[in-house]
Amino acid sequence: MEIFIDSASITEIEKWLKMGLVDGVTTNPSSMFKDGVYDAEARAKEIATLVNPRSVSVEVTTNNLDEMVTQAQKFASWASNITVKIPQVTQDGTPCYGVIRQLESKGIKVNATVVLSLGQVILSAKAGATYISIFAGRLADEGGNAPEVIKNAADWLERWKYKSKIIVGSIRGVIDIQHAAIAGAHIVTVPPQLLGKMADHKYTRDTVGQFVTDAKKALEMMEEGKANRNS
Ligand code: E4P
Repeated sequence: MEIFIDSASITEIEKWLKMGLVDGVTTNPSSMFKDGVYDAEARAKEIATLVNPRSVSVEVTTNNLDEMVTQAQKFASWASNITVKIPQVTQDGTPCYGVIRQLESKGIKVNATVVLSLGQVILSAKAGATYISIFAGRLADEGGNAPEVIKNAADWLERWKYKSKIIVGSIRGVIDIQHAAIAGAHIVTVPPQLLGKMADHKYTRDTVGQFVTDAKKALEMMEEGKANRNS
């Protein structure tokens, strides 16, 4: 399973990249705004260079299907590792699968995003999306069972030999990452602060503390023994 960083923060991406934990990056207009990024083009280019050749998802910002295609082509020209996020439907419910199909047939990788049901996974895969982003947290907000949708989606893609990869996003806690992993997500995109929480455990700290203390004591005993032999 791959881990993507769900953030536009260069500091955070760089930090986790150095640890060998980053297989890609996802952004959306709201996360960019939250991270204080107003120039999406400049930041997307910066991230793409930093993580190259790993994928960086950048989302279209229009409800017009023709404009989505134009924007996507522009975004894809910024760097070879940019993937364009296209939603399932526009704000008024117009399906965007034609855009996904068109872009993929031009060689532009699409991350079919804001997926909240198995039905949307099926349609995104049929349209040819490289990635399909299931929003676990938002699905759960509406009373949905995210692990069940992820598992059914992974099984369905496998059964019919689709190449689309499931990205699980909208992660709210470490348990969501674990549930997604067990359910068969190909990728989980994680807010960086949750990677810190995922690594940490009180009992791990205590155990490491015990080992370091005992190692120091052993060293002291050894040095004391040496001193006694030499006196
Ligand atoms: C990632 O691709 C998504 O855009 C992101 O995880 C959405 O998260 P949210 O539901 O917390 O906004």
